[in-house]
Amino acid sequence: VYDKIIEKGVLNVGLSADYPPYEFHTMIDGKDTIVGIDISIAEKIADDLGVDLKITEMGFDGLLGALKTEKIDVIISGMTPTPEREKEVNFSDAYNFSKNRIIVRKEDKERFKSLNDFTGVK
Ligand code: ARG
Repeated sequence: VYDKIIEKGVLNVGLSADYPPYEFHTMIDGKDTIVGIDISIAEKIADDLGVDLKITEMGFDGLLGALKTEKIDVIISGMTPTPEREKEVNFSDAYNFSKNRIIVRKEDKERFKSLNDFTGVK
């Protein structure tokens, strides 16, 4: 696969852009754009390989099949390893940031008890 990517000059990344902050649609300069942590990671990998990046968007459930049939080169879509998935494909080391937190002052402790308490904050 690696040789093929270099030869084609393109890294074809499959993802389902409905999972913020990993990958999601947003308007940038009036244009619908896919952004997120996984996009930054994909851009960095393509850059390191010296190839262009192609994002192939599809439903999350289609990703593993697309990888196995070589419609995409890799999946970068916030996908967590499970025993069933591990039987079919090979997962990299983890890259998530789940140990990081939002920090507020002690006196705001009662107001912000969960992530949902940050929505609509004025
Ligand atoms: N981490 C969960 C999983 O692997 C959900 C991932 C959903 N990702 C997405 N791009 N919709 O099942």
